[in-house]
Amino acid sequence: MKIVRKVVSKKIKEQKSPIIQLLQSALADEWLAHYQYWVGSKIAVGPLRPSIVAEFSEHAKQEYDHANRLADRILQLGGEILTHPKDWFTKSSCGYQTPSVPGVIQLLKQNIDGELCAIEVYKKIITTADKSDPATYHLAVEILKEEEAHQYELQSLLDDIMEQQKICCK
Ligand SMILES: [Fe+2]
Ligand SMILES: [Fe+2]
Repeated sequence: MKIVRKVVSKKIKEQKSPIIQLLQSALADEWLAHYQYWVGSKIAVGPLRPSIVAEFSEHAKQEYDHANRLADRILQLGGEILTHPKDWFTKSSCGYQTPSVPGVIQLLKQNIDGELCAIEVYKKIITTADKSDPATYHLAVEILKEEEAHQYELQSLLDDIMEQQKICCK
């Protein structure tokens, strides 16, 4: 009986392995996204700065929350969480874009790129988890909704700045 249980749990672990790998990669993305927003909130200069700093600070908190929820799920599935920051770069799908200038337009564009990438990451997790892992599926759906909201909020701010610049520089 014990041997049968061991074989079954090994089989479940093997089935979950691709999902664990996707979650580990998403965890790396979330830490980098958290830091990217945090840096942006500190260095941003330019039009609508107070609104952008508030938005970046809020998103930084939410990316941290995503990292927390992913780490909990990885552990629940029997996987290992990333234990060193260097793993964020080797496992990440979306990477990190160093803000080379502090202007809000560049910062917004970099973070929009990050959000578009995150949206694809969570769509892939949703497709992979589907019916075989409903808890991961629902977690990814919840996070996806927040990433889509982030992308929309940043794009709206960028559109506002572009519109203002058109009016002022006619
Ligand atoms: Fe996130
Ligand atoms: Fe996000």
